[in-house]
Amino acid sequence: MTKRVTVPEILASKGNRKLSELTAYDYPTALLADKSGIDMLLVGDSLAMVVLGHEDTLSVGMTEMLHHTLAVSRGASRAMVIGDMPFMSYQASVEQALINAARFMKEARAQAVKLEGGARVVPQIRAMVEAGIPVQGHIGLTPQSAAQFGGFKVQAKTAEAARVLIEDAQALAEAGCFSIVLEAVPASIAEMVTQAVSIPTIGIGAGPACDGQVLVVHDVLGLYDRFVPKFVKRYAKLDDLIVEALSRYREEVEQGIFPGPEHGFMISEQEAQKLGK
Ligand code: KIV
Repeated sequence: MTKRVTVPEILASKGNRKLSELTAYDYPTALLADKSGIDMLLVGDSLAMVVLGHEDTLSVGMTEMLHHTLAVSRGASRAMVIGDMPFMSYQASVEQALINAARFMKEARAQAVKLEGGARVVPQIRAMVEAGIPVQGHIGLTPQSAAQFGGFKVQAKTAEAARVLIEDAQALAEAGCFSIVLEAVPASIAEMVTQAVSIPTIGIGAGPACDGQVLVVHDVLGLYDRFVPKFVKRYAKLDDLIVEALSRYREEVEQGIFPGPEHGFMISEQEAQKLGK
């Protein structure tokens, strides 16, 4: 059996090897990502946008997140599966945050959870870590707060904001996070954050100095072009391949080419004769 990527392994990677993280929302993607050797599979609340067609990440709740996390857990035997805590599943109280984080572990079989925010979510993180739940932090552009930021904007562009970002990262590390996602921050600031904490930073639009990188799988594979951030690199363009395959299928159905005899089932001569055929 394949050995699962563990929290101690992630912590020990800092300064030794770069970590790979990718979002996944279903069983087949988890199987493929696991085969590719990706370290961490994040069932991100980006599910709302890239899978469910919402405008932002606010509309998914625990039900959808647990449902998709369990599917990913079934497909991933090596990668660490991280459940992303949806909007308002952890902000209202420490108790509610703890109960919801535990649901990701118990019901969806995740190995960790991720939540957005800096110093203001430290009480929630402490409670989770004390309960034995590994937590990945997420600062910089935190999409659940996009309304507060005035949209999906690059963060920490002033010295003061950069200072707050570094303090937030240190607060998350002290609270017991095993890694921190840094989203949409200038590369030089991400490098300062990476040097300021002893846990790995995982960048998305945060430059090459981070200890690892995370991307949305639909962006990597070229499956979603409604909004493609500057920091995305497409490693394939599956949308064209899929449209081409589906068009060929439609044409063959319309022209009576599909299904061919090789796709069907037969009854024996003897039985056919009984029917007078
Ligand atoms: O929801 C998500 O996919 C994320 C990643 C972009 C880090 O939070």
